[in-house]
Amino acid sequence: MSTSDPPSTPPPASASGPASSSDASDAQPRPARRTVTLAVVVGGCALAAAVGIPAAAFVSAPIGAKGAEGKWVRTLRFDQLSDGEPKRVAIVADRHDAWTLERGVELGSVWLVKHGNEVSAFSAVCPHLGCSVNVAPAATGAGAPSGFACPCHTSAFGPDGKRTSGPSPRDLDSLATRLEDGFVAVDFRRFRIGIPEKVEA
Ligand code: FES
Repeated sequence: MSTSDPPSTPPPASASGPASSSDASDAQPRPARRTVTLAVVVGGCALAAAVGIPAAAFVSAPIGAKGAEGKWVRTLRFDQLSDGEPKRVAIVADRHDAWTLERGVELGSVWLVKHGNEVSAFSAVCPHLGCSVNVAPAATGAGAPSGFACPCHTSAFGPDGKRTSGPSPRDLDSLATRLEDGFVAVDFRRFRIGIPEKVEA
């Protein structure tokens, strides 16, 4: 053949010639390769779930979801109260919502009134529109129970918390008490204002 002759066309690959490596992989049955791929995907998902689910639970768990503290709050010692003499005390406790916890926060205040071995507690929030209730000036002389009064719209309440006059739609909101190691503890709660019913807020 002369140098000007066009190169000869390579012969077509013979079906009986040696197989290349790609040819060899192509020769594997396709169902087997799909099985391997599926196993890898399933294994990966299982691993992601094992790691991811506990992490998601940690991130989404609110502080108050477990171990939330009760509403019983200690105030002053029982022997610091004088019979029939209302005493206002601050309610200081930890405050937590779904995500945050604050220590030693003043949540509000209540009036305590001792009667013998019993202690009554009233919310200091006026049920009318939420002003702060004070002890009313004594009406019938020294030592007489004076009750409570609201300075905003002149609602008045007896020493037992019963409404006696004014626009308040209900009595003062009473709260449960108990003695804890000589201290008066109060079951502190808030109630909706402006309605006749005592409904927790
Ligand atoms: S807020 Fe107390 S009388 Fe109105």
